[in-house]
Order: sequence, then C-alpha cells, then structure tokens
Amino acid sequence: MNTIKSSGIVRIERPGPPNVLKYEDITLALPGPGEVLINQKAIGINFLDVFQRNGTFPMDTYPAPLGCEASGVVESVGTGVTGFAAGDRVAYPLSNGAYAEKRLLKASEIFKLPADISHDQAASVMVKGITAHMLIKKSHRLKAGEVVLIHAMTGGVGTLLSDWARSIGAIVIGTVGSAAKKQLALQRGFEHVINLQSENFVDAVTTVTDGRGLDVVYDGIGETTFQKSVDLVKEGGSAVLYGWASGMPVVDMERIGKRKIQYVRPAVFEHYADRTEVDAALAEIFDLVRNGVFDLQKPTIYPLSEAAKAHADLESRKTTGSVILRP
Ligand SMILES: NC(=O)c1ccc[n+]([C@@H]2O[C@H](COP(=O)([O-])OP(=O)(O)OC[C@H]3O[C@@H](n4cnc5c(N)ncnc54)[C@H](OP(=O)(O)O)[C@@H]3O)[C@@H](O)[C@H]2O)c1
Repeated sequence: MNTIKSSGIVRIERPGPPNVLKYEDITLALPGPGEVLINQKAIGINFLDVFQRNGTFPMDTYPAPLGCEASGVVESVGTGVTGFAAGDRVAYPLSNGAYAEKRLLKASEIFKLPADISHDQAASVMVKGITAHMLIKKSHRLKAGEVVLIHAMTGGVGTLLSDWARSIGAIVIGTVGSAAKKQLALQRGFEHVINLQSENFVDAVTTVTDGRGLDVVYDGIGETTFQKSVDLVKEGGSAVLYGWASGMPVVDMERIGKRKIQYVRPAVFEHYADRTEVDAALAEIFDLVRNGVFDLQKPTIYPLSEAAKAHADLESRKTTGSVILRP
C-alpha cells in the first residue's frame, strides 16, 4: 500500500490523567476511495475531550485518538472524490480523531471553509458555536428581555453563549471562577458577573432579578451549581443542564416538576446528527463571527505535542475562551 511518511498524532492507551495523552509518529495510508488527506492547521479542544480522556465517556477501542474538530488544507484526494481538490481549505466539527498533524477522512465529513474565516477561528467556534446554537435555539429559545444565567461565562462555550445572548437582547448574568476571569468578563462589557470563589451566586442573582427569578439557566458546570441554579428559575422557566465539568449533579425531578420548570439535558450529537442541521448552524455561527457578535479573543494555542498540558490547564480552570492545538 502507498503510504506517506510519518505524521504526528496524540492518542491514549487507556483512560487516565492528562499524561496518558501521548504524542507519537504514525505512518498514514494515502487516501482511499472517497477519502481526503488533510494537513491540519488548527485543532479545537473541548471539555468533551477531557471526559473521553479520563474515562467518563469510555472510547470503543484503545489506543484511542481524541478530539473531534479541526481546520486544515486538503493535501490529496482518493478516487471518486468530487468537490474537493488539493489546496482546498476545509474543516469539520464532529469527527473523532482530530488530534493529529494529518488525517484521513471521508469527503462526506468535511466542508469547504469560507475564505474569510481563518483556521483558528474555525477551530475556535465550530463545536462551541454549535453548542451555543443548540442552547439558544433548541433547549430554550431565548428572547429579548429574558433574564439568563450563564455559568462559566468566560469558558469556551460560555464566551460564545454570553455574546450571543446579549446580542439577542437578553439580560445576561454570568458566573466565573476567579477574580481575573471576572475582570475579563467586565472588560467585555458584561454588567452582572459573579465570582464563584468570593461571592454567593444565589444572593447575587436574587439581587439582580429583584427576587423575580430567571427565565433560563444554562449550566455546564453541574454538581456544584445546578441544584441552586434550579431554585433561581422562575415558575415556567427552563433549567438547561448541558455539561458537568464539576461532576454530575443530583437532579430533583419532583422539585422541578412542582415548580413547572422545563428540565432540559441536551446533547449536540443528538441534535446535529443530520449534516444539513450542522451546515445550517455553522452558516449562522460564521455570520456571527463576521458581524462581530462573537468577540473572539485570541485563542490559547498549545503545540499538538503539548496536548497533555492543554488538558491539564482546561481541567484546572486556568483557560478562558477557546483552546487550540497547533500541529
Ligand atoms: N451537551 C453537549 O452536547 C455539550 C457540547 C459541548 C460542550 N458541552 C459542555 O459544555 C461545558 C463547557 O465546555 P467547554 O469545552 O467550553 O469548556 P470550558 O467552559 O472552557 O471549561 C470548563 C469551565 O467550567 C468551569 N468549572 C467549574 N467547576 C469546574 C470544575 N470542578 N472543573 C473544571 N471546570 C470547572 C470553569 O470555569 P470557571 O472557572 O469560570 O467556573 C472551566 O473553565 C462542558 O461541561 C462540556 O462538557 C456539552
């Protein structure tokens, strides 16, 4: 079989702490029928990758490659591929195995990256933007004037979610995990920012809402915040649990039911299983980049070979915004 010379990849032999992420060289086959070989330029890191690495979400087989989104340039195409050629700028949001210098993918899994979107922008906004799209358009259709609590508002998803919620005209209250993150959110023009380390978020939200409660909480933290967040939602509002960075919370369905709150636990992989849904969401997301709604900070960039350090920093709440691996 024709092969290309070695290409770097990061994978895990077994679930565990960040140091199970090993950078190694592998030999790749040339693209087979229907496949493209992509020279990757920017790889998005998501908290999902942490869960796959630590075994919260076990992989089907080991050694397992990680990561699901990247942007790059087509190096060569296999037989039968139409619509893509060497040199095309392409990206993909949801194909497992992205932590690699080069990778083979089915042509049906990639799309052409618009000329005015950079590789770093694509890797910063695809999965996190689709998640924000799901939360704002499907989990609880956010409207102008509604009061929304966004936890981890300076995180990857949280940054895009709070920018988008504000642009719709919602009143955004956000939480962060440090004084430096609070400063960052204030600099981005958010008025109601709560530092979880030094402030009681229940009291702070009650003060901002004058005790009237929230229309919706979007909670990606889970165990340490969710139950208290539910108590802040007004009757008929929504409690959206979309992640559990601090652990899975106990959800008191009886209490939720009595207060007529919609409890939603959405998953991108379910809502965007269909390619047309993904394409439509990405078109909206790239428009939000173009028109400046997403105030994209410079992403934090780690060399691909330092994926373990990137995971350790994301997991220990050191990062803000989007985090990228550079092959
Ligand atoms: N449902 C879905 O389909 C879906 C899709 C994508 C992502 N997600 C979820 O969305 C959430 C955000 O993902 P992301 O990739 O953008 O990550 P991220 O928000 O950049 O990082 C996680 C943030 O959670 C906060 N956090 C609070 N307690 C924590 C703890 N004990 N350990 C670690 N972090 C803690 C930290 O922010 P502070 O320090 O400011 O509190 C941290 O920066 C994750 O829960 C992820 O699983 C869900």
